[in-house]
Amino acid sequence: MSNGIPKSGPGSIELKRGVSPLVKADRLLYAHFERPDLETAERYLVDFGLVRAAGSDSDLFMRGTAPAPYIYRVTRGREARFLGIGLSVPKADDLEMLARKFGSRVEPADGPGDGSVVHLRDPENVAVHVHHGFTPSEPLPARPQILHNAPDQTVRVNDTQRPKLEPPQVTKLGHLVLETPNFSRSARWYMETFGFIPSDVMCLADGTPVGSFMRLDRGDEPTDHHTIFVAMGMESKVDHVAFEVVDLDAVEMGQQVLLAKRYRHAWGVGRHLLGSQIFDYWRDPWGQKHEHYADGDLFDAAQPAGYHLMDRSGLYQWGPDLPDDFIDTRMTPGRLWRVLKLALSDKTRVKLLVALKNSMARPGRQWQR
Ligand SMILES: [Fe+2]
Repeated sequence: MSNGIPKSGPGSIELKRGVSPLVKADRLLYAHFERPDLETAERYLVDFGLVRAAGSDSDLFMRGTAPAPYIYRVTRGREARFLGIGLSVPKADDLEMLARKFGSRVEPADGPGDGSVVHLRDPENVAVHVHHGFTPSEPLPARPQILHNAPDQTVRVNDTQRPKLEPPQVTKLGHLVLETPNFSRSARWYMETFGFIPSDVMCLADGTPVGSFMRLDRGDEPTDHHTIFVAMGMESKVDHVAFEVVDLDAVEMGQQVLLAKRYRHAWGVGRHLLGSQIFDYWRDPWGQKHEHYADGDLFDAAQPAGYHLMDRSGLYQWGPDLPDDFIDTRMTPGRLWRVLKLALSDKTRVKLLVALKNSMARPGRQWQR
């Protein structure tokens, strides 16, 4: 699907697969945040559906039902901020290669599962911890899945649907969205360092790429449509972290529980267009968006990239209208300062940011115009 986006001319699409990446990451392991209050963080994550794996006075490790030893790390600190991500690589040699290339070293990992780790920084200084050789945990027992009757499928007779009002079981960390002021530099770094493959590239009307849904390269083995989405933004930050649950009922049950606990809803329930997930977004006590999702697309490495216009209508197939505060474009003093600095040093990027802001400001649905 091209959506009429030009593939030649100024600013035309240029984001293609990395020729030969340094290594191929095979899993997204965890997201790492700093929070001033570990107890409040844990309460939210438990209500969201995660389970405590380990903890100390300084760190909290939370897991899902899948064997990853942990999928969320919280370190106690003065600020509430995103610190980085954990990825895994399939070979010990991969760690050695990364350590050599980036002047780092292979060290023992300090979280549940142990193993070895190399600590890197992406071009925006986001910490990327690359792990190998950790011991997977025993999967947690999954609750019985809800059986669905359908016109041509009778699976429930003389029985009812009465799932308990409780947090849905999160299986794994599925993806996260990284915003960066230098989109093409960041996207290329993840492609060339870890072999990420663009699944769908988001462009401005003139063909300039400003976002890319990227998946892991696991060869013939199907993997999630996106594990990271790198997108142009005014600053380096994480937009949201997304966690998989089993089905639509689990997404909706998550909404019931989080409503009951009086957390702040961000957007949903709906179905995305690119990636196709059924989604629901919630904010933690510090405003950070966390997504429950189910039923996402799976691609193997052969699936070619799609190119699309970056706008609101491309974010969802069905669901409530996208709330204006979902995409945070407020001009805080810090942002104003960054934009002014950029205006002096890189006018082209300021123009791109303005074009992106205008593209995302257009109503996503015809009844909103
Ligand atoms: Fe998402």
